[in-house]
Amino acid sequence: PLPAPFRVPLPVPAVLAPVARDADADRYEIVQRQATVEILPGLRTPIWGYQGTFPGPTIESRSGRTAVVRHRNELPVPTVVHLHGGRTPPESDGYATDLVLPADAAYPTHSHSGHASMHDPAAVITRGEREYVYPLRQRASTLWYHDHRMDFTGPAVYRGLAGFHLVRDDEEDALPLPHGERELPLLITDRAFAADGSLRYPSIDPSLTTVPGVEEAYLEGVLGDVILVNGAPWPVAEVSATRHRLRVLNGSNARRYDLALDPPPPDGRSFTQIGSDQGLLDVPRGHEHVPIAPAERYDLVVDFGAYPVGTEVTLVNRLGTGSTARVMRFRVARRGAEDSHVPDRLGELEPLDRAQAAVTREFSFRGGLVGDRHGWAIDGRPYSPTRIDARPRLGDVEIWRFVADLHHPIHLHLVHFHVLSRGGREPGPHDAGRKDTVDLRPGEAVEVIARFDGYRGRYMFHCHNSEHEDMGMMANFETV
Ligand code: C2O
Ligand code: CU
Repeated sequence: PLPAPFRVPLPVPAVLAPVARDADADRYEIVQRQATVEILPGLRTPIWGYQGTFPGPTIESRSGRTAVVRHRNELPVPTVVHLHGGRTPPESDGYATDLVLPADAAYPTHSHSGHASMHDPAAVITRGEREYVYPLRQRASTLWYHDHRMDFTGPAVYRGLAGFHLVRDDEEDALPLPHGERELPLLITDRAFAADGSLRYPSIDPSLTTVPGVEEAYLEGVLGDVILVNGAPWPVAEVSATRHRLRVLNGSNARRYDLALDPPPPDGRSFTQIGSDQGLLDVPRGHEHVPIAPAERYDLVVDFGAYPVGTEVTLVNRLGTGSTARVMRFRVARRGAEDSHVPDRLGELEPLDRAQAAVTREFSFRGGLVGDRHGWAIDGRPYSPTRIDARPRLGDVEIWRFVADLHHPIHLHLVHFHVLSRGGREPGPHDAGRKDTVDLRPGEAVEVIARFDGYRGRYMFHCHNSEHEDMGMMANFETV
């Protein structure tokens, strides 16, 4: 039986203290290790966590200050760390084959995967530790870090390898937005549990070392019946009757949500959106509901002052049924002095228009037979680390057109983009702002426009349904 919802207080991940600071960099150390935690009341759940926690600790950086994060791998499998949304040089971007082998010297150097797709002469493999350098020359945004190992990203993230990395800057700090206790990062995930409390993920090879993939029934993605927010099942947060800022991240492997508040506030608009994947919008946008696909972020302001003290406000998922139809609850517990508002103008966005584009490229995202197994492919080709499918010139603006058979949330590393069109029409109400992940709906074509600047090198783009990604729906571009 599933536990009763709205009993466990909402946890907020601890903010990681740097081990050192110098003039332009903050240094962090994270140990990736196994731990046993209580997620469902009274049961013990083995996880893999950054610092042994799920979510991992939150890193908070200033835009333009380098964060140097040394990861030590004390897990029984290789790992790779990717800062999702980070504008990061290729050697620190967490390329899928740049493995950090377990610190345990008993783990063999050469048997890290039996899978042919692993073979990558350019891979930089280290033993035990790796230092990732994030220059963070980018605007304030809600980034997250997660495992990205070739063929095994889905199960590794499912076991807990994910955390927030928030970037702040002066432009955003100057705005009168809710802050401090009134700013809540919310990592939403779904998980399935066995009766003994362990996580249930249908890997073909539960050791996650040799044979990739999931059981036949889960080819479209692994879903769970328990919704966790910041690692707690359907938690409850006590809030004052004031505005709060919710930095919502869908960290689920395959589940999409359509979020709304129940009851809605009197004006019907559950949320005022102030930001998207890559920071502030130009102007705020009111929404009755917000659809969110894996890896997307929505920065939302909710005015709990619109509710009488004592109201229980449930964050619901309109795409769910039964246990997955609700996410968490807010209890408007007391009055509070309001010290924030949402200004009419938020951030300055660099406009990108069609006329600037040097190239238009098209990629299809479809399932089908790959060899003798069902797989997921971009342009009909399964992933290979050695094949480059696009070579944008550094600094160029390009239009990328994506077409899909089913739902696929498409993510580009290195760059952010604007949605230019969806289904041949103007972008939808939820497509505003700077994005790094865009959800394609079945049969739909979406055009995005991006400036490929930052760093030269090889980067991945892929579907962020982790099971699709692990089954081949990934490719490379190289900025040249
Ligand atoms: Cu969030 Cu390539 O990943
Ligand atoms: Cu997909």
